[in-house]
Amino acid sequence: MKARVVALPGDGVGPEVVRSALRVLEAVAERSGHRLELTEALIGGAALDRVGAPLPDDTLAACRDADAVLLGAVGGPQWDDPSARLRPEQGLLGLRKELGLYANLRPVSLWPCLAQVSPLKAELLQGVDVLVVRELTGGLYFGPRTLERTPEGERATDLLVYTEPEIERVLRLGFELAQRRRHKLCSIDKANVLETSRLWRRTAQRLASEYPDVQLEHQLVDSAAMRLVTAPASLDVLVTENMFGDILSDEASVLAGSLGLLPSASLGAGRLGLYEPIHGSAPTLAGQDLANPLGTILSGALLLRHSLGWEAEARGIELAVGRCLSQGARTRDLGGTLGTSAMTDAVLAAL
Ligand code: IPM
Ligand code: MG
Repeated sequence: MKARVVALPGDGVGPEVVRSALRVLEAVAERSGHRLELTEALIGGAALDRVGAPLPDDTLAACRDADAVLLGAVGGPQWDDPSARLRPEQGLLGLRKELGLYANLRPVSLWPCLAQVSPLKAELLQGVDVLVVRELTGGLYFGPRTLERTPEGERATDLLVYTEPEIERVLRLGFELAQRRRHKLCSIDKANVLETSRLWRRTAQRLASEYPDVQLEHQLVDSAAMRLVTAPASLDVLVTENMFGDILSDEASVLAGSLGLLPSASLGAGRLGLYEPIHGSAPTLAGQDLANPLGTILSGALLLRHSLGWEAEARGIELAVGRCLSQGARTRDLGGTLGTSAMTDAVLAAL
């Protein structure tokens, strides 16, 4: 089989971790007789510097044309001017929106050999296997915003907007994913305060009768944040709106031991998906062979699974990562000394 993948290295450690993941994907493809057609395109700050736009038209066109997109990270201090009109992050947000990738899957499970790496007590982490499903193209991130001068000073607004269809499609995916896991769906909202959350909760309640084998519960986002670190093993699939999901997924990464380990898949109506580690561009680590490539390598596994349907190959990558971790391979974020490329070599050797 042949598949077209666009790589968007982006900024900071992005190019290094994407290079690692591509080495692994190419090795897997070669071994299984598949062909990967790889192209690279600009996004984020790198695109701003080179062509003056965070999401150039030809990047978007290449992504639309591909079977899957693998992204590193965007952003960095050199583009952090709060009064700038264009920011690297607009490249990523624009890509998610333009490709209609409304659901962001962030699986968090514990590699047993890393139980000591997490700052949480090892006994609390027993059996942790959480899937955060974050709504990705609505809410505060995409609502109208304003900035105006008033006699009292400046005034800014970000509007939180959700329509019922937007809520329904991501909830349905949450129910379906729960059906393939432990049949528990925790819908997270702030229904005691926000109208969008009340619409969210009513929609979840309405859909529940169609998924009688899934146990639905509702939880307020503040107490869900606490539960994630006090009773994480009680959670299966979490589904929530864009901003809550952004925050809770970084929190959930603590369970795994490091932000650097976590992959994500952003999916829409078709097979085309965007795959990226959940960590950012980590500018202080950039260019020094220090970043943990596993989040991106595991994103590559999700890419094979969800966009290409190469389940055995995806499993192969995950098993290889598990094996090299259990043999003691550790990057610095995990308390070890391996660099980005040495960790990648370890995964390739374990494949
Ligand atoms: C993430 C990131 C992005 C987001 C930033 C870089 C815009 O934090 O993917 O979680 O907020 O969605
Ligand atoms: Mg985030």
